[in-house]
Amino acid sequence: MQPTDLGLERPLAALGVTEPGQVPVRFAALRTHFEGQFQTVHAESEWKIFRDQWLGRKSGVLAQITDNWLKPASPELKRAVGAGLNELRAHVESKIEERRLAIESGSDQSALAREHVDLSLPGVHRPIGSHHLIRQVFQEIEDIFVSIGFSVVEGPEIETPYYNFEALNIPEFHPVRDDMDTFYLDLPKGAPSPLLLRTHTSPMQIRTMEKHKPPVRVIVPGKVYRRDNPDATHSFIFHQVEGLAVDSDITFCDFTGTIEYFVKQFFGHGVKTRFRPSYFPFTEPSVEFDVSCIFCGGAGTATSGGTCSKCKGAGWIELFGAGMVDPAVYGFVNYDAKKVSGFAFGMGIDRLAMLKYQIDDIQVLFQNDVRFLRQFP
Ligand code: PHE
Repeated sequence: MQPTDLGLERPLAALGVTEPGQVPVRFAALRTHFEGQFQTVHAESEWKIFRDQWLGRKSGVLAQITDNWLKPASPELKRAVGAGLNELRAHVESKIEERRLAIESGSDQSALAREHVDLSLPGVHRPIGSHHLIRQVFQEIEDIFVSIGFSVVEGPEIETPYYNFEALNIPEFHPVRDDMDTFYLDLPKGAPSPLLLRTHTSPMQIRTMEKHKPPVRVIVPGKVYRRDNPDATHSFIFHQVEGLAVDSDITFCDFTGTIEYFVKQFFGHGVKTRFRPSYFPFTEPSVEFDVSCIFCGGAGTATSGGTCSKCKGAGWIELFGAGMVDPAVYGFVNYDAKKVSGFAFGMGIDRLAMLKYQIDDIQVLFQNDVRFLRQFP
């Protein structure tokens, strides 16, 4: 926009202007230029730039005329340049002021027209995300346990073998380690301890009891890792919620009552529960908790008349492992096994989500396909 072609940087003599009679045509050109620009100035921001271009103290057009045309002008030319400059200044100042008032009072119609908002135009669409199904199921489970006095804690996904195994009563050559054949980190030689991706959330039982004296009531939602080959029911990463309650008077009844309360809250009051003997090194006795098949209602037969494919006719579905905390574990955390008792459980969240929401392939939980995710807004 700067009118450099108007010869503002050079004295008039350099432009070949030597006679007073040649001066008015120069000012006329400037004025035409001014009018042209003036037409395009409507918004306040444009107006400010325009004002500075013409009236700016150091490099505005009028300042340049004063410095480059008027000051070095010969005595013959000075009067004509002075007159032209005064006239131009008066014009520029009054026009600029006039436009300022118009912009301020909103009467500049072209500006109004340009800033007009067309309310019928479609807006900018910003899709709103939602929590992943796994996160939603975590939340459902947390709400149920928090309502009966449990707190939610989280722990590291990278663990030492001590927390993942030893302190849970799984010594180095214990056969159950085979089930947990897992990912060890590649550490530099001389590292103080090997590290692995935790294979279950149970290490948090130990970490919690190390930090807190009984009573303890926590659940631990989180990711766990095992060297499993992916198929419809296996994934090398999955989710668990660990539970631990330890106090001076916790019995097997408290344990089954709590678990049953949870299962009915989660799957509905119609379901039946049962437990079967099982084995975990860190619980004694250990159980496997089952729920009556939510697909066939426990009958074992599908609506079509054939065998229910989900429970394979058994009428029961295996839910999760649990048990009374093995007294040996208390030894690792300086609890007095003669004074305290408690229970622990560890449930696979992906499995619970698949059962409750009738998903038949665990992989869809990790693929982040929006066609799947949108079904759980
Ligand atoms: N940590 C066990 C697993 O991942 C589950 C479990 C937790 C069993 C707590 C008993 C008590 O298989």
